[in-house]
Amino acid sequence: MKPIASIRLFCPATVANVACGFDVLGLCLTSVGDEMLIRKVQQKGVKITKITGQKLPLEVTKNVAGVAALALLEAIDTDYGFEIEIYKNIKPGSGIGSSAASAAGAVFGINALLGYPFNKQELTVFAMQGEKLASGTAHADNVAPALFGGFTLVRNNDSIDVISLPSPIALWIVILHPQITIKTAEARAILPKEITLQTATKQWANVGAFVSALYKEDYNLLSKSLVDYVATPFRSKNIPYYNELETIALSNNALGFGISGSGPSMFAMAKGKADALKIQAALSKKYSETTITFNCFISKINPEGIKIL
Ligand code: HSE
Repeated sequence: MKPIASIRLFCPATVANVACGFDVLGLCLTSVGDEMLIRKVQQKGVKITKITGQKLPLEVTKNVAGVAALALLEAIDTDYGFEIEIYKNIKPGSGIGSSAASAAGAVFGINALLGYPFNKQELTVFAMQGEKLASGTAHADNVAPALFGGFTLVRNNDSIDVISLPSPIALWIVILHPQITIKTAEARAILPKEITLQTATKQWANVGAFVSALYKEDYNLLSKSLVDYVATPFRSKNIPYYNELETIALSNNALGFGISGSGPSMFAMAKGKADALKIQAALSKKYSETTITFNCFISKINPEGIKIL
């Protein structure tokens, strides 16, 4: 069908949780992302016309981008429909926000083609429907940084309240992705349903300290607060050599190390590119000595999130 208008997008990868902020903190990456092409057409409804890079369903109700797009279109009367092409570079199940990139990209693109009727808070709610399809839970800690860029804090998951946080200029992220798949739904199922008051106290003290460190550009405080007592102790057991990798990262000047989202990817935070490269080399060396196939890259924090190309 001949499009009325179209938009091409870069939809970046993201790191959710950022160690201490289970389900609330996230950050956006620059160096890896999907592309999407969204066309506004006369025929109402949503169609996914093409997906390259990964085997994913074209059926709208089974695809995270389709479900997010439908959620947006239910909230507005429009005489138009939309066709979506998805060029995947982010592997589903890698832990760097593959489903979030598609869900957030779909709603961002349709919103732009409709003349921006919704703000980013509202787009977050629509995109979360895609996350719900992917993981069974409508968490926003990947879609928020994809839409807003930089660091985000999701203050409330029920009536969405996303807060953008500052990104200290010297921060670099190292991503190590062992080529195993961990499904978010399964990684959530292994977590205890309750935590102790003592654990909760330690965790929210770290989240508060981390936010303060971002504002003050205090790399020492940032480093001290990048500790997770809630999810990592349970999830790290399913990631090969996690403890050794953490030791390697920290002994190569990493400010912190943790699981990216629900894994299997891990992230290290570094002050400056030289340290990021050093950590990348050291982590890669460890996995090179094993039979695990992996991918390791560095990235700056992406301040703008999804971008029109
Ligand atoms: N906060 C979510 C989790 C992120 O840890 O389950 C999933 O990418």
